[in-house]
Amino acid sequence: MKQQLAALISAALQHDLSLTEVTALLEKPKYEHLGDLAFPCFTLAKKYKKSPAMIASEVAQHIQADFIKEVKVEGAYINFYLQQLPIAQQVVTQILTEREHYGTRPATKETIALDFSAPNIAKPFSMGHLRSTVIGNALANIAEKMGYRTERINHLGDWGTQFGKLIVAYKLWGNQEAIEAAPIAELLNIYVRFHEEAEHNEDLNEQARQAFKALEDGDEEAHALWQWFRDASLQEFQSIYQLLGVAFDHYNGEAFYNDKMARIVAELEAKQLLVESDGAMVVPLADMPPCLIKKNDGATLYATRDLAAAVYRQETYAPVKVFYVVGNEQSLHFKQLFAVLQQMGYEWAKNYAHIPFGMMLIGGKKMSTRKGKIVLLADVLKEAIATAFHNIEEKNPTLVHKEEVAQEVGIGAVIFNDLKNDRMHDIDFDIEQMVTFEGETGPYVQYAYARIQTLLKKGAYVANQEAITHLDETAWPLIKQLQDFPDSVAKAFNDADPSQIAKYSLQLARSFNKYYAQTKLLSADEYQQARLAVAHCVALVLSESLRLLGIASPKEM
Ligand code: ARG
Repeated sequence: MKQQLAALISAALQHDLSLTEVTALLEKPKYEHLGDLAFPCFTLAKKYKKSPAMIASEVAQHIQADFIKEVKVEGAYINFYLQQLPIAQQVVTQILTEREHYGTRPATKETIALDFSAPNIAKPFSMGHLRSTVIGNALANIAEKMGYRTERINHLGDWGTQFGKLIVAYKLWGNQEAIEAAPIAELLNIYVRFHEEAEHNEDLNEQARQAFKALEDGDEEAHALWQWFRDASLQEFQSIYQLLGVAFDHYNGEAFYNDKMARIVAELEAKQLLVESDGAMVVPLADMPPCLIKKNDGATLYATRDLAAAVYRQETYAPVKVFYVVGNEQSLHFKQLFAVLQQMGYEWAKNYAHIPFGMMLIGGKKMSTRKGKIVLLADVLKEAIATAFHNIEEKNPTLVHKEEVAQEVGIGAVIFNDLKNDRMHDIDFDIEQMVTFEGETGPYVQYAYARIQTLLKKGAYVANQEAITHLDETAWPLIKQLQDFPDSVAKAFNDADPSQIAKYSLQLARSFNKYYAQTKLLSADEYQQARLAVAHCVALVLSESLRLLGIASPKEM
């Protein structure tokens, strides 16, 4: 519609402004009563040497089309009022035909790799990892909707000197049963103890260095312990992924690259990029600190493993884009990583992007994982589910499958609370607030969806595109929003910003509730099916929006 109108305007201006220029200028009026699209004439004043208002009234006379109901001039603006019913018919027909595929782009053979979640073995799953998981998963869903294939990669933190410390700590104070019962909490305990005791026992650090060296050299006992720590931790992480409904294609963590780094180091050497600095090997970089490749004891580092991972992924998946969904505080690391890849001559490094995000705060404070004061994420998620259960008990005590719905609502609330904000903002984690059915919450959107399901049932609705023989004036904002959905998805993808979809869904849910309050949807007249068809489209698009965010849409709640 916008395109068609832009073409008309451009023609009326004798193409003094191109189609693209006109499209860029066309805007949504601030108020409903000012029409559906507005064209400001300010920029033309200079060219035509006339007042914008004069230009507006002259140009307006030359614009007519079937889909335009009225053209009105309002100062420097030309306001367009569109023919509502034919547009509604077109939008509803398209949505009822395509259903959940509405807004889906044709499949390409191109792959986008997403590196997200990536918790660290033997450490609690932090709020930062929760954010990465939720944002990464939504971005992957959105990329798929845009027609891309995806590779979802969990680059587990399963290597590094901390494993030397853990092995020493385990041998000194470890208890197999305690670890089996609660792996992460117990491994953290002995890790914290290691740090406390190492403060007055320097020798411990030396032992840890040796233990890690043994691990790197393939010592059997060290390797078996490492494997056990990894398996036990991963099992605990899996229960979180299960709750969140997130899955990965790959769990190739840092350790996976152990045998893939020698080649990278050799390549850096051959390309004369490596420089010695205090016994360590580094790649000097312009405008930023050098990238550390090897420590003075020969040990490789986080960055070395990321270099190997980038090359491996490029060779294995040939992605057209790679997203690293990792907190803000690692920005320098990724700048260095991409810069080194560029220096190695890898053109594809320009397709690699760090997708950073802000912190998650609890009661305005950072969640502390140090000093044994840990809040386990699984407990936090369970609390959200329990709160949702409580709310459902109050609102809808006779609901069947209450547990299942409470899980979908509680988890949906946590995910939505994260994704509704610009990802760079710090967000607050307040369970009571995020699980309410009102305000800017996931349950609010889910509730609008469930309410429509009930309406459709009560109204004995049968999906039928022909039903749209009428459109209430009060439903017009819904039609326009529904029409916007494909563009919203595309924009969210281009900006790597799932919050745009969360905001879209809130808006649509709000508009629906307004429509519902203004207009009796169920009043057994000849237009009931037409009204329900619009409601059905809203439900389809709401649940598809939620799905993109990684949130379920219960039919009842
Ligand atoms: N495990 C790391 C951390 O918790 C995140 C890894 C992100 N991915 C990567 N390829 N560096 O900080």
